[in-house]
Amino acid sequence: MRVLVIGNGGREHAICWLIRQRAPATELYCAPGSPGTEECGESVAIDVSDIEGLGRFAAERDIDLTVVGPELPLSLGIVDAFRERGLRIFGPSRAAARLESSKVFAKEFMHRHGVPTSDFVVTDDRDTARSAAERFRLPAVLKADGLAAGKGVLIVSSPEELEAALDVFFVDRRFGSAGARVLIEPFVLGEEVSFIGFCDGRRVLPLATSKDYKRIGDDDAGPNTGGMGAHSPAGIVTGEQLDEIMTDVMERTVAGMAADGTPFSGVLYAGLMMSPDGPQVLEFNVRLGDPEAQALLLRLEEDPVDLFAAGADGDFGRSELAFSSGASACLVLANQGYPGKAASGDAIGGIEAARAREGVVVFHAGTGRRDGQVIATGGRVLNVCAVGDDLSQSLARAYGGAARIHWPAKAMRSDIGRRVLGTGAVLS
Ligand code: GLY
Repeated sequence: MRVLVIGNGGREHAICWLIRQRAPATELYCAPGSPGTEECGESVAIDVSDIEGLGRFAAERDIDLTVVGPELPLSLGIVDAFRERGLRIFGPSRAAARLESSKVFAKEFMHRHGVPTSDFVVTDDRDTARSAAERFRLPAVLKADGLAAGKGVLIVSSPEELEAALDVFFVDRRFGSAGARVLIEPFVLGEEVSFIGFCDGRRVLPLATSKDYKRIGDDDAGPNTGGMGAHSPAGIVTGEQLDEIMTDVMERTVAGMAADGTPFSGVLYAGLMMSPDGPQVLEFNVRLGDPEAQALLLRLEEDPVDLFAAGADGDFGRSELAFSSGASACLVLANQGYPGKAASGDAIGGIEAARAREGVVVFHAGTGRRDGQVIATGGRVLNVCAVGDDLSQSLARAYGGAARIHWPAKAMRSDIGRRVLGTGAVLS
């Protein structure tokens, strides 16, 4: 089987790694790929936004299956374009990808179909935004409607912070056209959980639970990032809550999308707040979370090529996925300055020493090569992951591995999983 994976981050390295582990005979390509994915297959120098170029490559090389990592090509309609060429691809159509590419679409969809989520106001006017935030009472949440690389959400706790956030949207216009419409929502209290399912248009195959840590600093200090660490299981979800998430969120969403004439196939990711009133959807994504994928795929005991091909063909033909017992963790090693401008270019040492440790796997998220050395080029640079018998062991192993890796501008959180372990909970 010839498989093309699209993307170049840690998530895509994890997908390629799993394909190598579970379907070793696969002829694997990754566009544009990274020094990490090159350990598993051939890089193809085509940008993720070049839908025409990717389609031409897949057709010329007789690619049997394409798997899309990031949201951008999905929002640009890569699935529709590939299907028009008769190419098999696992992911949502452009219309279905609006669940992520338009927060307004997602909110209206959820309200229409009874998927639990907070109230909201949408506006392009500063005064309306201010009075909505005041009506919901602070803290409130301001969100860009469109794609903003995980950075389009601002939480404001005081009138001064509200004015500063309104400046970001209406004066600085930091998010460009993605921020032309702003959603204002009440802040929902609780603990965040990521719940991800593979969908074939009709059915949801749930993955294990996971939890990511979005703020840059320990104890959730500082701005949001794409995610600074994750673990699976989330460790804070009861069996009853799992059933509620599956029926009220995942299955209701897939049924609603089908009823609206835009059936959802691909990866459905619900970012949830486990609130005192039950799970509330904060946002949908239409792809695997990064870094949640790195933790989850370490535990997935399935052939991903068979699985994604069946999903692309519209029928998984089963209702469950196998995950290893135990737990996994993923730590993000970033360049100092992230989530702002951060690209030190420092040479990285210790990757192989980390990999030599029990249970540890290292994925490349933002690296390059210079004079034969791996260098730190991105904001998020490496993912040090580990499996273990439980969360405590997998986190300890990941931190042990991360300590072996060094470059001058290395930055990471030191508290991933601490709050969950502190609860003493051993839940899903
Ligand atoms: N880790 C959050 C995301 O992938 O959007």
